[in-house]
Amino acid sequence: MGLLQDIIRNARKLEKTIVLPEGDADRMLKAADVILNAKIAKIILIGDPKVISRKVKEFGLNGIQKAEIINPLDHPRRKEMKDLLYDIRKGKGLTLEQADELVNNSLYLAPLLIKAGYADGEVAGSENATGNVLRPAFQIVKTAANSSVVSGAFIMIVEDQTYGDDGILVFADCAVNPNPNAKQLAEIAVATAQTAKNIAKIDPKVAMLSFSTMGSGKHEDVDKVIEATKLAKEMDPELAIDGEIQLDAAIVESVGRKKAPDSKVAGLANVLVFPTLDAGNIGYKLVQRLAGAQAIGPVLQGMAAPINDLSRGCSVDDIVNLVAITANQAQEKA
Ligand code: ACO
Repeated sequence: MGLLQDIIRNARKLEKTIVLPEGDADRMLKAADVILNAKIAKIILIGDPKVISRKVKEFGLNGIQKAEIINPLDHPRRKEMKDLLYDIRKGKGLTLEQADELVNNSLYLAPLLIKAGYADGEVAGSENATGNVLRPAFQIVKTAANSSVVSGAFIMIVEDQTYGDDGILVFADCAVNPNPNAKQLAEIAVATAQTAKNIAKIDPKVAMLSFSTMGSGKHEDVDKVIEATKLAKEMDPELAIDGEIQLDAAIVESVGRKKAPDSKVAGLANVLVFPTLDAGNIGYKLVQRLAGAQAIGPVLQGMAAPINDLSRGCSVDDIVNLVAITANQAQEKA
């Protein structure tokens, strides 16, 4: 796939350091081996060194020797990380004893390594649920300066190239916020347009999806999308964005012309912003399963440093690709 090859090629040039907190898990080790041999990124593996060494032999991995391996229970930066965590969270009531316990947890240690400047990004989630990966990331790395909400986008590559940019579309929020308010939805739209531009390399045309097109339906859920569209236009006046709009009017030119004749986005949208997480999460999985689309992500947007969450059903290739995307995002942040 051309887009992924470009993302991987660019990651190679960047030489970013990505931390993998599930570093002794089978798929993570196999992915790290591919990444290190292909020089896609530098890797820090957090895990039990004995388990890693046994699995390296068992799987015949020859690239892992280039990784930095950190045993979360015993490593030279442990006190530094504990003090850093205490410093960040003491205002929220965290005690030094609790910090001492939490730094044993690799999902806390990984964002701490990023915060301290030892790593540029993190990929996790092959063994842990989304909430357990995101909560420490939110608490330690926090949102970017211009953002109040983190959301998750999917780059969808559809074999049938009729829709979007030759079959490439970006969907959000598919991963984080169950019911965003109008301001959050506006921020999600602006952030997703950035992801479309910087990672999917398409010129964003954003549709704010609803069950109504330009006033055809009346409901408080429609009002939320209308308000979000207005706010997003204020946040980024140059952005090509329109709503509220139904999915067919957003991506099918003939329907767009009929239902929203004055819109510059209708019928041509390549960025789809869903009104709720139910819609976004179900929507991307429908396209992935029924249309056989490749779904790359979730790419988390709005965080101060790139931290990305895998699905627990992920493959070794999925991990390699998400590490390459994370390295590309780290370049943007830099
Ligand atoms: N953006 C930025 N910061 C956030 C966000 C957000 N969207 N949500 C929570 N936070 C911050 C809070 O401000 C808080 O920070 P603080 O402690 O410094 O004040 C911290 O994170 C914890 O906040 P809580 O409200 O306690 O968050 P909670 O743990 O309840 O929920 C979570 C966060 C886990 C991400 C929740 O929103 C969630 O479970 N979302 C759905 C995830 C999911 O299941 N997705 C579908 C599967 S993914 C897939 O299929 C691809």
